[in-house]
Amino acid sequence: MSSGAGRSAGAPADGGARYQSGFNNQFATEALPGALPEGRNSPQQPPYGLYAEQYSGTAFTAPRASNRRSWLYRIRPAAVHGRFAPLDLGSITGRFDELPVPPDQLRWDPLPLPEAPTDFVAGLVTAGGNGSPDLQAGCGIHWYVANRSMQERFFYDADGELLIVPQLGALRIATELGLLEVEPLEIAVIPRGLRFRVELAGSAARGYVCENFGAPLRLPDLGPIGANGLANPRDFQTPVAWYEDREGDFELVAKFAGSLWTARIGHSPLDVVAWHGNNAPYKYDLRRFNTLGSVSYDHPDPSIFLVLQSSSDTPGVDWLDFVVFPPRWLAMQDTFRPPWFHRNVASEFMGLIHGVYDAKAEGFAPGGASLHNCMSGHGPDAATWARATRADTSKPVRVTDTMAFMFETRSLIRLTRFALHSSQLQPDYQRVWQDLPKNFAPDLRPDAPHRPGARKG
Ligand SMILES: [Fe+2]
Repeated sequence: MSSGAGRSAGAPADGGARYQSGFNNQFATEALPGALPEGRNSPQQPPYGLYAEQYSGTAFTAPRASNRRSWLYRIRPAAVHGRFAPLDLGSITGRFDELPVPPDQLRWDPLPLPEAPTDFVAGLVTAGGNGSPDLQAGCGIHWYVANRSMQERFFYDADGELLIVPQLGALRIATELGLLEVEPLEIAVIPRGLRFRVELAGSAARGYVCENFGAPLRLPDLGPIGANGLANPRDFQTPVAWYEDREGDFELVAKFAGSLWTARIGHSPLDVVAWHGNNAPYKYDLRRFNTLGSVSYDHPDPSIFLVLQSSSDTPGVDWLDFVVFPPRWLAMQDTFRPPWFHRNVASEFMGLIHGVYDAKAEGFAPGGASLHNCMSGHGPDAATWARATRADTSKPVRVTDTMAFMFETRSLIRLTRFALHSSQLQPDYQRVWQDLPKNFAPDLRPDAPHRPGARKG
């Protein structure tokens, strides 16, 4: 899908991606035999005439358990490119103070697919965010739509790590450290600063991107759950080394300090022939999430659905939680089984990858989004409430045909002008709760004191 003469190596002849298993491993991989130096990181003369380059994702002195860095052996160092100039492209921004954000519950229809040629970078549009890259805290939340591969263009984001959630169309993400192939129901994570090119497998693509300004995403501790469960480490896949040796008139786009910048580059920066370390991209299949839940009564807090987290300096309070709601059994007896009504100090941006979300009977379409900001009351719509309060809870029921997710963050999410003025913003979302009836009947005394496990009727 890319143009330009040259060679590439590290992937099978069919161009498919190959992976190494595990989360945050110290990987070691080479696309040419012997390209990875043995026993040292920076030999006087690396093999094959390559340059050695360290690529760090945390402070040098970060504790060993959270330290991220890789050593790259490449055809040219990352320093080789032209001068950057501001780039007016697409609608990605780091400005979250354009307009006052209302406390309303908000919901958007999916963005339409573009008609003009639009690649992944040009098709990024910012919904909102919080914090800032300067403080290395918070996140930016973006949608993307695209109808063509990045061709003579490469991209990196110095502001944050990118969590890419495809909703429509598979992507082939060619990175400095190897090839990732992701389709809807899978996610990809690109570390801060890694250069890459996104190619479309089909004619169109749409999805979500969370740009994590803070600490790199990690797997949560499991506490009493034990050594297994939720997202299991072995299901994360990091590419093997792969490179292309291409020269031409290319563009390197950077997101830096909230804005896009462009520079000319005379070669493909995807020229890392071998690398070792743990600062690396990865993919994960959300269908492999080991979903846990109550088998007695009540609905657990949604933290039970946590896939990845970006911790803050406050223990237990994350800047970013990535949470999924996969197909699962609901077995709780005498329990209102959909997510309960609630309002939280955290702010919740939800998307739907596939199917129907079990708290909303209609109006929340795949590719759409909702935002329930700090202390905005929300919960199931009136139709879902009516159905769930009458449902037979003596038997388990399987929730099928669904995959919703949430970017949840400790601080409220401020919206861009685009998000607040978008024609996809639904003007009547709050109607979903207006038909919830008043049921209060002070003269109707319960016939028996409630106790967990007791069934009414
Ligand atoms: Fe919620």
